[in-house]
Amino acid sequence: MKKTVGVGITGGIASYKIADLVSRLSKDEDINVIVIMTEAATKFITPLTFRTLSGRDVATDLWQESGEWKVQHIGIAEALDLMVIAPATANFIAKMAHGIADDLLSTIMLANTAPVLVVPSMNTNMYENPIVQANLTKLAEYGFEIMNPASGKLACDAVGKGRLPDIEEIYEKIRQMLNDKKDLKGKKVLVNAGTTCEDIDPIRFICNRSTGKMGYAIAREALLRGAEVILVSGRSTLTPPTGVEFIPVWSADEMCEVMLQKQPECDIIIGAAAVGDFKAANKSEIKIKKREHKEDKLLLELTSTPDILKELGKRKKTGQIMVGFAAETNNLLEYARRKLEEKNLDFIVANDVSEEGAGFGSDTNIVTIIDRRGEVKPLPQMSKERVAAAIIDKAVELF
Ligand code: PMT
Repeated sequence: MKKTVGVGITGGIASYKIADLVSRLSKDEDINVIVIMTEAATKFITPLTFRTLSGRDVATDLWQESGEWKVQHIGIAEALDLMVIAPATANFIAKMAHGIADDLLSTIMLANTAPVLVVPSMNTNMYENPIVQANLTKLAEYGFEIMNPASGKLACDAVGKGRLPDIEEIYEKIRQMLNDKKDLKGKKVLVNAGTTCEDIDPIRFICNRSTGKMGYAIAREALLRGAEVILVSGRSTLTPPTGVEFIPVWSADEMCEVMLQKQPECDIIIGAAAVGDFKAANKSEIKIKKREHKEDKLLLELTSTPDILKELGKRKKTGQIMVGFAAETNNLLEYARRKLEEKNLDFIVANDVSEEGAGFGSDTNIVTIIDRRGEVKPLPQMSKERVAAAIIDKAVELF
């Protein structure tokens, strides 16, 4: 079922950054976003921006006629599963701490019974002012979740605490607060993701099209469901989810070494990385010069990399669950079943990477889950986050 997140924007310079947050949340199929802006916030960025990004009218005025709600501030408050105030100015923090309801957003805050995330952002001296700190303490005592601001250069040229945290961090916090399923609590999950890279010389290397989106989504989902997560990542430009133990690696050999070292302490192992099957047999220590290859040809001898999941499969301990992917362009189910057996997996996620909207780089995936009992479950095209949730559901079912 969809969850409704209210994003309350108050009048600070960081309010323009919330466009990214609303855009990010609106892309999630399981989230409805309602944007509420104070009058001061509309001086920094227009409601039209948020209307366009969220796909629905922005609420700005306590007195505005609304066809959607019988009584606007009560209707919005009752619809919420989570309320986020970002950026939260010193003034608005004070209003919330003292129950002042003199505009739409502050009135909604009094009617609201959903959890609240407050993301303060302001000048350092204002943030450190004992009055503001006392108000934040009061909100924390009332059960509000308060995010610490980041440090750095502020819009007013001061340097210190008060910057809005990264949007990705706020997004992660929201996802954590929305998630009430903690079925992986006490479990440790090891996930690999991204592409491995094999050096040819100090300049060139062999890699593949994996971006890490699928593996990072799995790591994030496991984290949200209460697990301790180790994410071993090959090359990727993605930001690892806040809270995972992140181990970046380069080659298949390096990834294999880390995975073998971490395997004994983990309950679930998921291989989503696109591990290169070959590496240069003789890596050159110096740059290979074009002019030394007279016939415009360079013959590269390749040799096999370790099969990481197969090695882990040999050492699998009782009760440990192992999951692999099969990225195929043909004979999907037959090849996937073979890999399930060869690598001693509990289930495999068969991924026809030639399909539009599936596989490398896309935000969605189309997969079929096959388990050892022979159960075959094809899933429709869904976001990689939802595929990740389906994979974790299956792992939990097997426990
Ligand atoms: O990262 P994205 O851009 O989001 O793309 C997602 C994805 C397409 C990479 C992902 O969905 C996927 O299919 N990952 C597996 C890619 C792969 O290497 O598939 P494979 O069929 O070649 O390997 C089978 C399994 O063995 C995989 O779990 C793989 O991680 C593992 N393997 C493969 C080779 C090797 N040397 N060691 C391994 O452990």
